[in-house]
Amino acid sequence: MSYVPLKNDVFLRAALRQATPYTPVWLMRQAGRYLPEYKATRAKAGSFMGLAKSPNYATEVTLQPLERFPLDAAILFSDILTVPDAMGLGLSFGEGEGPRFAKTVRDEASLKEAVFDLNQLRYVVDAVASIRQALGGKVPLIGFAGSPWTLACYMVEGKGSDDYRQVKTLMYSRPDLMQGLLDKLVDATIQYLNAQIDAGAQAVMLFDSWGGVLSHDAYLRFALPASQRVLAGLKRIGADGQRVPHILFTKGGGLWLQEMAETGADMLGLDWTMDLGRARALTQDRVALQGNLDPMCLFAPPAVVQAEAIKVLDSFGRPQRADGSWGGHVFNLGHGISQHTPIEQVAALVETVHNHSRTLR
Ligand code: CP3
Repeated sequence: MSYVPLKNDVFLRAALRQATPYTPVWLMRQAGRYLPEYKATRAKAGSFMGLAKSPNYATEVTLQPLERFPLDAAILFSDILTVPDAMGLGLSFGEGEGPRFAKTVRDEASLKEAVFDLNQLRYVVDAVASIRQALGGKVPLIGFAGSPWTLACYMVEGKGSDDYRQVKTLMYSRPDLMQGLLDKLVDATIQYLNAQIDAGAQAVMLFDSWGGVLSHDAYLRFALPASQRVLAGLKRIGADGQRVPHILFTKGGGLWLQEMAETGADMLGLDWTMDLGRARALTQDRVALQGNLDPMCLFAPPAVVQAEAIKVLDSFGRPQRADGSWGGHVFNLGHGISQHTPIEQVAALVETVHNHSRTLR
């Protein structure tokens, strides 16, 4: 496979703590329901999974936000729950509802039955290759997967949860089964992300969306080591011979930043509860940081959005250190963008990040 040269490598440079002319920005869930064109394509596809399973539709919606805003990265359009689906759990999304699995994993028998088959995720690999070609080197493409712990939450609960009662019951009463499930997910996720890298993903991100619901002890015993094993198994060089940064995002992970910085990840994603300056002091620029504007801030008037974005940039501070070396900051929201977000606010946000961050060089 031959690739056209990348025109905008600012995101990759920031993730690897290299010099950048401004702070790059992309938004979690940037392709999604706040965009009318996304809703139109989703209607054509019939359902969310219809969209995700078609490489053509997935390519179309991945590119939609880039046509509206000068974002510095694209993210594969898919979902973290494709992996349990490819273990035979039967994923569906009802209209206006969250995800649901037809089967759950709660005992030995159901754990044994859950066998990952990478061939069932051919549609994702094909989407990655198609999106990479369609981007034509405009910006890099981020691939992603859910962390083993976060996937385990959905597999045990069978859907989203308010209290994680089922998955925590299993974790506390049958830690051996929990570990068995995490082991399977570690293997599956390594295969899955390496297939995305081989197909052309230029960075990969592990979403540990529910790591933050665990106790300190349980996070360090179950969630973090599983993510670390995934990271250790990932390719570092992509299909084009370039370095592929590895990103670890733990929602609610501010308490464990120092431990997360030791996992081998190149960049840590942060939710909005953590101050970036404090995060930087704790990690000493050993990793780049990604985040972390509160997505709900986008409902305030434009002047507030601008002021809050500037606060995030200023809290990270000048990326270049006194000794000439660089820290890395990639601007993002602290979690996915809300479907109710006014589009003009996103345009104002991206412009503010690009303009203000130039004054920090
Ligand atoms: O960021 C992007 O633009 C890439 C696409 C992406 C989606 N899901 C598309 C999506 C990514 C990276 C995800 C990750 C994901 N999926 C996570 C981790 C990130 C996070 O939010 O913490 C999680 C926990 C999921 C599971 C999931 N998928 C839920 C809980 C839901 C329903 C929530 C909702 O907003 O309805 C989804 C569905 C989903 N995944 C949508 C999109 C655009 C909305 C579905 C629709 O169009 O109806």
